[in-house]
Amino acid sequence: MSKAAPGEARAPGPSLQELLKRDDSSVPAPLQAESYEFLGDDDIPYSNYTSKVRLEAEFENLWPRVWQWACREEHIPEAGDYYVYDIGHLSAVIVRTGQGEVKAFYNACMHRGTQLKAPASCGYAENFCCPFHGWIYSLDGKLLEVPEKWDFPHVSAETHSLREVRVGLWAGFVFVNFDVDAEPLDAHLGTLRSHFAKLGIEDRYIETHIQKRLPCNWKAAAESFMEAYHVRETHAGGMPGTEVTTQYDVFGETVTRFIHTIGSPNPRVNPPQTEQELLGSMWARGHEWDDTPCVPKGMTARDFYADHLKRTLGDAYGQDFSHYPTCMTLDSIEYFLFPNAFFFPGLSLPMVYRFRPDAIDPDFCTFDLMMLRPVPPDGKPPPPPEPVQLDVDDSYTAAEGLGRLGAIYDEDTGNMAAQTRGFKTSRKLGQTLGNYQEVRIRHLQQRVNKYLNGEI
Ligand code: FES
Ligand SMILES: [Fe+2]
Repeated sequence: MSKAAPGEARAPGPSLQELLKRDDSSVPAPLQAESYEFLGDDDIPYSNYTSKVRLEAEFENLWPRVWQWACREEHIPEAGDYYVYDIGHLSAVIVRTGQGEVKAFYNACMHRGTQLKAPASCGYAENFCCPFHGWIYSLDGKLLEVPEKWDFPHVSAETHSLREVRVGLWAGFVFVNFDVDAEPLDAHLGTLRSHFAKLGIEDRYIETHIQKRLPCNWKAAAESFMEAYHVRETHAGGMPGTEVTTQYDVFGETVTRFIHTIGSPNPRVNPPQTEQELLGSMWARGHEWDDTPCVPKGMTARDFYADHLKRTLGDAYGQDFSHYPTCMTLDSIEYFLFPNAFFFPGLSLPMVYRFRPDAIDPDFCTFDLMMLRPVPPDGKPPPPPEPVQLDVDDSYTAAEGLGRLGAIYDEDTGNMAAQTRGFKTSRKLGQTLGNYQEVRIRHLQQRVNKYLNGEI
């Protein structure tokens, strides 16, 4: 037998696509797509994570020039509503103007630079009045008033209106780009736009928002969510048979994805698990073991459990989810958009993640974790909740709204601190990645390199 070329080898047993075909429902076309690419197998230097010089280079060459989602449209529903988005030392005030448009401005007064609105603040304003000397700007950013105007003959709305930050909208997310010459948001979204046209998330609202400080570099944090290779050791105590079948995809320069199944038989388990055992393992996630119902004859545990979830979530959110395919109901479907955002279109795992670097310390970052739920039938989403703030040592289980996932996120956080310490003590200088399961990590690193090397 000839040796597979690098990146061609796959886990034993049926592929994710073969498993999805066993479901009693169609698989949406985007989820049938497969797009793996071998991107090399060199080690990734640990200094990419730990170096202060590198962090500064990212602040100089990446963050001021890349599209990043800043808030949701429901944060600024009415004219005058504003939201401050901060990334390192950069800050933008995003505002709904009198015409209903969304605009964004550098959060700095054109007089002597004072921030117009406090970091991470949001609220309502009739106009922007600088707290230092009271220069006033309209919601459109136009300079309206300069107290003691006689002293500023050299200042006018033409020369001293607020500097705009570019804005793009997608699926209820407001994106900003500090570079006026950046490519359009659509080009950056790449495959995301066409895939989500079929998978949907534009009709969702924020049910839960948690902001946690994490003990690692922003890339290490994002990368810890890019592979399911760690599931067996980190989340299942190293138990053989707890690996999950996962497909990894690279869609061009800005989008990667994994899909991993829930409740599919694990080919490494012998004798094979029965459908009843598979249901038992899924049921245990949200119920008592001894309540587990019997899987009806001729039905798979996945289809049975998906029907159960569609009914219970339908009751909880006052909607009919019966049209959701089994995979969209159960599976962990995770799209990554460069540089720092994840979107999950699934019904029972409807998360959104964002990772932002600390402004000065490469070993820390901020993780925004949201759960998005379908907007109620009357079409009016509830107002967005205040983010729950968690510090490095706070457990996710202290926050409401995550249920059993809280303990899982805590397990991931433990790895982050240990990995960061290991980066500094290792004599090996770089991390070695799996060709297939960890390709998304390499994809992120390569794209960051392109910004830092001036290729983008
Ligand atoms: S710095 Fe804003 S009015 Fe003076
Ligand atoms: Fe994890």
